[in-house]
Amino acid sequence: MRILITGGCGFVGSNLAIYLKHKHPRYMIFALDNLKRRGSELNLPRLNKAKISFIHGDIRIPADFEALPDPDLIIDAAAEPAVLSGIIESTRYTIDTNLMGTINTLEYAIKKKAKLIFLSTSRVYSHVE
Ligand SMILES: NC(=O)c1ccc[n+]([C@@H]2O[C@H](COP(=O)([O-])OP(=O)(O)OC[C@H]3O[C@@H](n4cnc5c(N)ncnc54)[C@H](O)[C@@H]3O)[C@@H](O)[C@H]2O)c1
Repeated sequence: MRILITGGCGFVGSNLAIYLKHKHPRYMIFALDNLKRRGSELNLPRLNKAKISFIHGDIRIPADFEALPDPDLIIDAAAEPAVLSGIIESTRYTIDTNLMGTINTLEYAIKKKAKLIFLSTSRVYSHVE
């Protein structure tokens, strides 16, 4: 079983990766992340220790998916998760990651016939003022 976790160095992605590897040592787990979230790089030693392969990549860039080993399952944990991120930070980055990045991830899952688990809570509801 090969599992790709996008946002694999984030809070949810890294803990999920380590939990799954602990439960299923034979699974091959790949953590793709662009390390945009400050502090996400601090999870690299934890992932390394758990024998999870880190891949520096960005879900906004379709070509970054092409270099990956074919996954059986994708867990989508890459995001700009703050509800207000599109207002108080870069609207462009939020849309490119949370919308276009999700489309890239879905297209990659279809192409590879991989199952996909979508974790986002922040991308389901919009924020209107
Ligand atoms: N934290 C929670 O309690 C919680 C609960 C339910 C669902 N979720 C969902 O889980 C997902 C992850 O949340 P989190 O709390 O782990 O956030 P997080 O910010 O800790 O992790 C997100 C990771 O995605 C990476 N990332 C950002 N943009 C990227 C890009 N363009 N390409 C590749 N990687 C990118 C960041 O560097 C970071 O490591 C979100 O969709 C969130 O809505 C979180």
